[in-house]
Amino acid sequence: MGLLDGKVAIVTGAGNGVGRGEAVELAGHGAKVVVNDLGGSVTGEGADKQAADEVVDVITSRGGEAVANYDDVSDFNGAKNIIDTAIESFGKLDVLVNNAGILRDKMIFTMAEEDFDSVIRVHLKGTWNTMHHASVYWRNESKAGNQPSAAIVNTVSSAGLQGQASQSNYGAAKAGIASMTIIASLELGRYGVRANCIGPGGFTRMVGQARADITVKNPEDYTEFDPMNPGNSAPAVAWLASDDSKPTTGQVLRLIGNNLCVYQPWEMGEQFLATDQDGNPARWNAADIGPILNKYHFRSINPGIAAQQRQ
Ligand SMILES: NC(=O)c1ccc[n+]([C@@H]2O[C@H](COP(=O)([O-])OP(=O)(O)OC[C@H]3O[C@@H](n4cnc5c(N)ncnc54)[C@H](O)[C@@H]3O)[C@@H](O)[C@H]2O)c1
Repeated sequence: MGLLDGKVAIVTGAGNGVGRGEAVELAGHGAKVVVNDLGGSVTGEGADKQAADEVVDVITSRGGEAVANYDDVSDFNGAKNIIDTAIESFGKLDVLVNNAGILRDKMIFTMAEEDFDSVIRVHLKGTWNTMHHASVYWRNESKAGNQPSAAIVNTVSSAGLQGQASQSNYGAAKAGIASMTIIASLELGRYGVRANCIGPGGFTRMVGQARADITVKNPEDYTEFDPMNPGNSAPAVAWLASDDSKPTTGQVLRLIGNNLCVYQPWEMGEQFLATDQDGNPARWNAADIGPILNKYHFRSINPGIAAQQRQ
């Protein structure tokens, strides 16, 4: 009995790297999988059906069930076609894994407008596009009396949650995806849909673009445990996709190598109240704020930056 027997899943950007490992993992647990991939370059140019076709072959050669889809997640109608492919091929949809992504790193001052827009469009808009069409389907199912037991798994990165120089476009998209996932968890719970995030890692062609020293292999080609296998994150996705993870929703898991953790969300810190001489609530004076917040001056979520500031 597989963890995902009877489930129908979509993995976007599943032709390479992290998504490829997830598609193969979900199929290995019994899910029928739509392998979506546009087959473009790391920076989002071009298209090639081979990427998705290859992963369908890997899954079917192992006895699993999969179909390919080549739509662009950033295209609103293309995203609908991805959802429709699952329903037309396998009769329903239970799991949506949003993984597709591109990278166009530059400092804010050297980044072209097109580089900002493209990365936001593929990651943030692409994730919203598929969530929109899938949630219309799940809401209709619920209203028709077929309450779903469904899961969305979106993909984030430390670049968005902790910050990374040269990735203002990518980091903003990833932080936006984390926030959007929390909102989706609040909106879709009543329709039987959970929404969580995975923060993955590993040597993929995306990482290879910035680092000439690494070897990029497909997840299924690793024969023993390697901390940089991009397929290492997939077990967390399989668990989040499964009914075993109920009622987990609105969470961000990070699984890289053998290291699994749960991100802590933004939350209000220590609170300070301004009062007048009689202790009644009063308006803050700008000059009083500094002395009270002094202890926070060198606190940063990025210890590297904090250390530089202290020097
Ligand atoms: N590799 C890491 O260390 C790492 C770390 C954190 C987050 N991530 C995230 O993991 C995800 C996968 O990245 P990866 O490293 O495996 O990169 P990758 O380039 O190997 O794979 C991304 C895949 O997405 C596909 N794709 C791109 N744009 C698409 C579109 N518009 N529609 C459909 N498919 C599209 C590409 O063709 C490619 O096959 C991304 O969201 C990335 O941001 C990766």
